[in-house]
Amino acid sequence: MNQALLTRLFKSIEGEPTAPLMKIAFSIIEDEKKKGHTKLANKLNVILSTNINKKTADPTFRVTKNKEFHVPVDRRYKLPLATHIEHDYLRHNMVLSSEVESKILRIEKEYIARERLAHHGLNPRKKILFYGSSGCGKSMGAERIAWDLGLPFYKVRFDSIISSYLGESATNLQNLFKSIEDYPSVLLLDEFDIIGKQRNLKSNDVGEIHRIVNILLGLLEEYNGEGIIIATTNLEGSLDKALFRRFDDFIELPKPDETEIVKLLQISFSALKLSKEVKLKTVAKKMAGMSYAIIDKVATDAAKKSIISSKKEISLEDIQASLEENKRINK
Ligand SMILES: Nc1ncnc2c1ncn2[C@@H]1O[C@H](COP(=O)(O)OP(=O)(O)OP(=O)(O)O)[C@@H](O)[C@H]1O
Ligand SMILES: [Mg+2]
Repeated sequence: MNQALLTRLFKSIEGEPTAPLMKIAFSIIEDEKKKGHTKLANKLNVILSTNINKKTADPTFRVTKNKEFHVPVDRRYKLPLATHIEHDYLRHNMVLSSEVESKILRIEKEYIARERLAHHGLNPRKKILFYGSSGCGKSMGAERIAWDLGLPFYKVRFDSIISSYLGESATNLQNLFKSIEDYPSVLLLDEFDIIGKQRNLKSNDVGEIHRIVNILLGLLEEYNGEGIIIATTNLEGSLDKALFRRFDDFIELPKPDETEIVKLLQISFSALKLSKEVKLKTVAKKMAGMSYAIIDKVATDAAKKSIISSKKEISLEDIQASLEENKRINK
């Protein structure tokens, strides 16, 4: 069965660990492990652990998953302060180094174990900062966590928050954090340095920007809600140290190495036939230093070219042409 189908199926399984369906599900995980599909097995394990005892959960723990949630709006223009992304549209098939994979998995596992942690007075990691260069999975990483945990995903709209009248931006931020507090979800503050980097701004608005940043810092510091807040930035160096301190975890998402590039290419080309002359390892060497996003684009462009010209397979020439063309946009 393909990975996406298997994952979907697992999401629908709930109940006691001894339930027959649970047992079957655990044996599938073991099978996948034996086949060497460790990442898939880990992913399925995370999903299943979330669903274990779902119907017999501790009644003292607030279960607000089905609570209706309305995205707050900017008071003046009625613009939504966050955008909801439907579960089915969340990007989640990531190729990661084992180090980054285990760090992301740790966030997911801690979230699943949050009730157990709470009994010991501990909190899961739930304020996360992803940093690294463009196109290396910062936003995608946030989506993957929501997808794996089956949590609703919201992306903060800084345009709605900031463009409002003086004094209202802070109220907007406060409203958004408050509304999400009791609602298990993933809230993405994508490229949040849009606010942070303006700390050094010298303009008429500097007072207001300062205020917004300080409010955001305070909100992050105080946040102990039911969901996970993920902020992303590609400006690690220029970020204020005070911002880093507010997070439970900061994870760098680096560019792919040769092994990861090969895996990414295998996935990108999986639906099509590759010419025998194409050696993915050799292609990967030429792609060293490129971001995941550019590599994906090179592969997609080459695949489209071969489909349009009705060729039976993707040639090395198609890949090389696409590589040359896209080299210019690689940072
Ligand atoms: N680890 C990954 N595995 C597979 N594909 C990836 C990975 N990271 C990025 N991609 C590809 O790159 C695209 C862009 O990724 P993403 O939006 O997460 O980048 P980003 O780091 O947020 O960049 P930016 O700083 O420009 O916002 C994805 O849609 C996906 O095609
Ligand atoms: Mg991004």
